[in-house]
Amino acid sequence: MKGLIFVAYREAIIKKFDSKVWFSIFEKSSFPKEFPLLKTEIYDDKYFFELLEISAKELNVEYNDLYELFAEYFLNEYVPKNLFYVVENIRSSRDMFRNLDLIHEILSLSASLELIPRFEYTEADDAKEAILIYKSQRKLYDLFYIMTKTVCEKYGDCRIERVASEKLKIVYK
Ligand code: HEM
Repeated sequence: MKGLIFVAYREAIIKKFDSKVWFSIFEKSSFPKEFPLLKTEIYDDKYFFELLEISAKELNVEYNDLYELFAEYFLNEYVPKNLFYVVENIRSSRDMFRNLDLIHEILSLSASLELIPRFEYTEADDAKEAILIYKSQRKLYDLFYIMTKTVCEKYGDCRIERVASEKLKIVYK
C-alpha cells in the first residue's frame, strides 16, 4: 500500500486525537521504525491491517469509525492540500467517480500492478444513476462504501445504495 495512505491516516488520527495516541498505536505495530514513514514508499499491506486492528482496540471503536475518520480527513483535507493537481478539475461527485480508476492507476503505478484497486463506473442512459464497481485483492468493501458515501456528502449531490459488497448504485440529485 502506498505510503501516502499511511501518512494521511497518521495525520487523521493526530488531528482527531493527538500525537501521543498515534505513537502509542504505531509503537505497538511491527511497522519498521528505523526509517521515517514516507508517502512515496510502498509498504506491505500487513502494516495497514495491523494499524487498523491496533487502532480499533486502543480507541475502542469499530473499523467503520476509523474508515469514516480517514475518509473525511483524506478527501476534505489531505487530498486538496497535498494532491491538488489530482482534484483540480473535480467539481462534483460525478467528476470524481468518472476519474476514480485513472486517479488510482496513476497514483499506485509504482506499486505491484495486481494490487492496484480498480473502479468500473457506468452511468445509466439518463445519467441520473450510475453503478460503481470496486475490484481489489484487498477486499476493503467497507472502506469502499464509506469513501463513496463521503464523496456524496462532500459535494452534496448524490446518495448511494449497496447492490453488493463490491457494487454500489449512485443516485444523483
Ligand atoms: C482524489 C481522491 C483519491 C485519491 C488521491 C486516492 C488515492 C489512493 C491511493 C494512492 C491508494 C493506495 C493504493 C495502493 O497503494 O495500491 C488508495 C486506496 C484506496 N482508495 Fe483511493 N483515492 C481517492 C479517492 C477514493 C475514493 C473516492 C474512493 C471510493 C470509491 C477510494 C477508494 C479506495 C480504496 C477502497 C482503497 C484501498 C486500496 C485497495 O482496496 O486496494 N479512493 N487511494
